Amino acid sequence: MSEPIIGILGAGRVGTALARLAVKAGYDVRVATAKPPAEIALLMEFTAPGAKAETAADLITASDIIILALPLRKYRDLDPALFKGKIVVDAMNYWPQTDGHLPEFDGAESSSEVVQRHLAGAHLVRGFNHMGYHEFEQDARPEGATDRRAMTMAGDDPAARQAVGDVIRRLGFDVVDAGPLASARHFGIGTPIFGAGISASDLGDLLKAVA
Ligand SMILES: NC(=O)c1ccc[n+]([C@@H]2O[C@H](COP(=O)([O-])OP(=O)(O)OC[C@H]3O[C@@H](n4cnc5c(N)ncnc54)[C@H](OP(=O)(O)O)[C@@H]3O)[C@@H](O)[C@H]2O)c1
Repeated sequence: MSEPIIGILGAGRVGTALARLAVKAGYDVRVATAKPPAEIALLMEFTAPGAKAETAADLITASDIIILALPLRKYRDLDPALFKGKIVVDAMNYWPQTDGHLPEFDGAESSSEVVQRHLAGAHLVRGFNHMGYHEFEQDARPEGATDRRAMTMAGDDPAARQAVGDVIRRLGFDVVDAGPLASARHFGIGTPIFGAGISASDLGDLLKAVA
């Protein structure tokens, strides 16, 4: 893929932190919420200068990689038809305390497997989930830095994982590719990987140990 356009759905803690990092990394970055773009344009000027506010529909159409940074309880608002063929990064976690009880996330599956079923035509990769929003910028490091932290991701389409891995690396993190989306069960909330600020080799070892 040539230089991808990055679209971010959600302009809260995660959305704005990732937008700032992506603008800094030189990407063309679009951001949308459920509100009209005029309502978030000023917010973006202050929180992520350089990122363009758009409608969600325009953002999805224009973007090559779309990061879901909205509350998981809103995932059914996403129109599957718009996401057909798109690379989607699911950064959402299930927090019953804030999302409320959502029975479809009670099972052993990762929440991303449920979201992938909803967005059936999208190439979904789970990523950016196991790091706090404040750590994205705090811990981002250039490639080769000795204290560079790693992130893991999982998804069923190897080409989508490759494309998302390239973005994660450029934003400042090493990548541990966990493989198919079902592997995301190993790095959700409550697993040892969730919140672990460690190198790629340590994260790879931890993933092997828990898988
Ligand atoms: N906080 C963390 O450290 C962290 C880390 C990793 C992953 N996550 C996950 O990332 C997601 C976002 O977390 P957050 O802390 O950034 O939440 P947040 O601060 O509450 O921001 C949520 C954003 O989503 C927008 N939104 C709501 N409904 C939408 C829709 N239908 N389409 C597009 N945008 C919509 C909201 O806009 P409005 O103003 O219109 O409501 C708001 O800008 C959650 O699923 C969370 O579990 C969080």
